[in-house]
Amino acid sequence: MKLSASFASLLALVSFAAAQSQLWGQCGGIGWTGPTTCVSGSVCTVSNAYYSQCLPGSAAPTTVVPPPSQPTTTAPTGGSPPPSGSGLDSVAKGAGKKYFGTASDTNEFSDTAYMAILNQAGMFGALTPLNSMKWDSTEPSRGSFSFTNADQVVARAKQNGQIMRGHNCVWYNQLPSWVSSSGFNSTTLTSVIQTHCSTLVGHYKGEIYAWDVINEPFNDDGTWRSDVFYNTLGTNYVQIGLQSAKGADGNAKLYINEYNIEMTGAKATSMINLVKSLKSAGVPIDGVGFQCHFIVGEVPTSMSSVMSQITAMGLEVAITELDIRMTLPSTQALLNQQQTDYENVIKQCMAVAGCVGISIWDFTDKYSWVPQTFSGQGAALPWDQNLAKKPAYNGIVAGF
Ligand SMILES: *[C@@H]1O[C@H](CO)[C@@H](O)[C@H](O)[C@H]1NC(C)=O
Repeated sequence: MKLSASFASLLALVSFAAAQSQLWGQCGGIGWTGPTTCVSGSVCTVSNAYYSQCLPGSAAPTTVVPPPSQPTTTAPTGGSPPPSGSGLDSVAKGAGKKYFGTASDTNEFSDTAYMAILNQAGMFGALTPLNSMKWDSTEPSRGSFSFTNADQVVARAKQNGQIMRGHNCVWYNQLPSWVSSSGFNSTTLTSVIQTHCSTLVGHYKGEIYAWDVINEPFNDDGTWRSDVFYNTLGTNYVQIGLQSAKGADGNAKLYINEYNIEMTGAKATSMINLVKSLKSAGVPIDGVGFQCHFIVGEVPTSMSSVMSQITAMGLEVAITELDIRMTLPSTQALLNQQQTDYENVIKQCMAVAGCVGISIWDFTDKYSWVPQTFSGQGAALPWDQNLAKKPAYNGIVAGF
């Protein structure tokens, strides 16, 4: 019957069309269940194990997505981004890590010289928004969510084939006063945390590699930080946040992120004990972030030991906010020491198989948080104020 035959061929055509991704669309990666071929004029190109994208070009069809253990250092061919063999992410992947990433945010996206580096193929394999996912940005008043800026960061990462680190759900700082100062009882604050974490994480379901669900829970002496969460809910707020995030995106890696745990001592011990108790209570926890805001000449040497104690419990770890500041003005001697320091930090991650990646807290001194936070200090990042590479860049490469 002619009619049904042409109907069948129409169906075949429709399903064929639906099985191809559009230009710039995703076409592969771990967890991807959509189409794995690209429309004519584009080529499915592996960006990393988590993301393949249809890029302009007409070379051979679908590129096979490699298994996660296999680093992908090959540059795509045919009208796609420039060769990427020497960028920091390429070097990190070549050394067996998942990514070398940076923090950034939309207020920097209009700087074209900056963006040329952020977008450079093989340079950064992961993005973390500096501010736009924090509570004061995403839920400035109760129940009123705003994702405009954060959406732009995620879109940029997608366009560049970069994975995302979500940052963060529950933190005492950059927290609107409606949360910190309303005098909520434990029932209400529990619901406030649940709503915030599940809405935020749920908005980006499937788009975030790892979430810093809990940020900076401890004081430097290892005691719990006194903030509205701990003071109202005790340590329970940690599992409330983690469980809410898990319910909203079951595949994202859930992290606790902290500073001054990069050396053995009371604060690192508290983190190890927290992970232990969460594991034994069956609370979802996948990773610990080591912020690594360091000072030139004072980089700790026992970080890999702390990391190993955490990976021994079945978690992964990552360096999440690396920078190494100095007292200004910078001198050649300080820049050389900084190069050595960056190399030594990378080496400590390399020494731990479960240290999956490294992110710097923006990549240029032009936008570093350091000068505004630590008076008289700065020059903490691998690119200087004028977006030129510093010796620190070579230190990172050497560390891998
Ligand atoms: C907590 O606060 C809410 C809202 O004010 C109130 O309805 C509830 O009864 C309080 N619960 C307890 C246990 O005090």
